[in-house]
Amino acid sequence: MTLPLRKPAPSWPCPKPPLPKPLPNPSPGLKPTATSDARPGPFAGRVAIVTGSESGIGRETARLLCAQGAAVVLNGRNAERLEHTRRTLAEAGFAVASCVADVTDYAACEQLVKTTVEAFGRLDILVTNASISQRAYFADMQPEVFKQVLDSNVYGSVFPLKAALPQLLKSRGSVTFISSISALNGMPSGSAYCAGKAAVANLAHTLRLELAGTGVHFGVVHIGFTQNDPEKRVLAADGQPVPIAHRPPRWQKSQAEVAAIILEHIRRRRQRTVISALGQLIVLVHTYFPRLGDWVVRTTMRRMRHFYE
Ligand SMILES: NC(=O)c1ccc[n+]([C@@H]2O[C@H](COP(=O)([O-])OP(=O)(O)OC[C@H]3O[C@@H](n4cnc5c(N)ncnc54)[C@H](OP(=O)(O)O)[C@@H]3O)[C@@H](O)[C@H]2O)c1
Repeated sequence: MTLPLRKPAPSWPCPKPPLPKPLPNPSPGLKPTATSDARPGPFAGRVAIVTGSESGIGRETARLLCAQGAAVVLNGRNAERLEHTRRTLAEAGFAVASCVADVTDYAACEQLVKTTVEAFGRLDILVTNASISQRAYFADMQPEVFKQVLDSNVYGSVFPLKAALPQLLKSRGSVTFISSISALNGMPSGSAYCAGKAAVANLAHTLRLELAGTGVHFGVVHIGFTQNDPEKRVLAADGQPVPIAHRPPRWQKSQAEVAAIILEHIRRRRQRTVISALGQLIVLVHTYFPRLGDWVVRTTMRRMRHFYE
């Protein structure tokens, strides 16, 4: 069955760079939607939701998915910022729609999926990227702040997936949970965030087992230090939004680099992608030399306090 791909926003031509091989169709799920105006590329005819895509890595992932042929539904809680991102991508000629939804609210997630199906007729790819981070030691944290950070990382992935699963089963689609390298070994001043990011990695594994044979891909991307939007805020112990702790720029990847790795992960339907040499080193040390890993972290806690506080 060929489903019409509707464009909710006006578009005009823009240069089309050469693109890599198309995404293999995980038959016998839905075939890509064939349209005369679809952008060529490995994701041509596919429809994606990227949660938390009004800013940061989510916005760049949405942009690249669009550039490689997908229609994308953007999401966030701030209507003004979300509309600004939607308009920017629509003006570049991309097929985008948007839905303001707090992904820790299940009814809002159902609305997000409904908006997607109404706009583009189907859903193939879900990237659960929305998240709140923290900059606070566990002993100082208000319990409700811990809960807010944990909820955004756990239910903020579980609820969109739960709402989207019937559509993803139909399309034999792909789910990518955005996690962090800090989920691999824990990180001081990141207790609720690390716990939430580790939980979604484990969830992906369980879903791969429970839903084996459905053709749906469940993967996790552990992201390392990445350049942030200047406006990015995380929660302090009392719940106040504060800028993120200092990260040496030479350790950071650009958002565009990270988005390209996420797309490659989706295209190859990988189970796990760990971004950056530091991430790979953490995996190695945590697996084979865990006490050495803890010694390094405790030493940096003493010598590089600004890195955590
Ligand atoms: N940047 C890094 O160095 C780094 C490292 C490791 C992992 N990561 C992960 O990469 C992902 C993106 O990070 P980022 O740096 O791009 O962060 P960001 O700039 O803060 O973007 C997060 C987005 O999520 C949205 N959001 C937060 N809570 C939400 C909710 N409940 N419902 C809907 N939207 C929500 C935010 O918008 P509103 O607040 O306006 O809703 C924002 O658009 C996150 O999962 C993060 O944990 C980032």
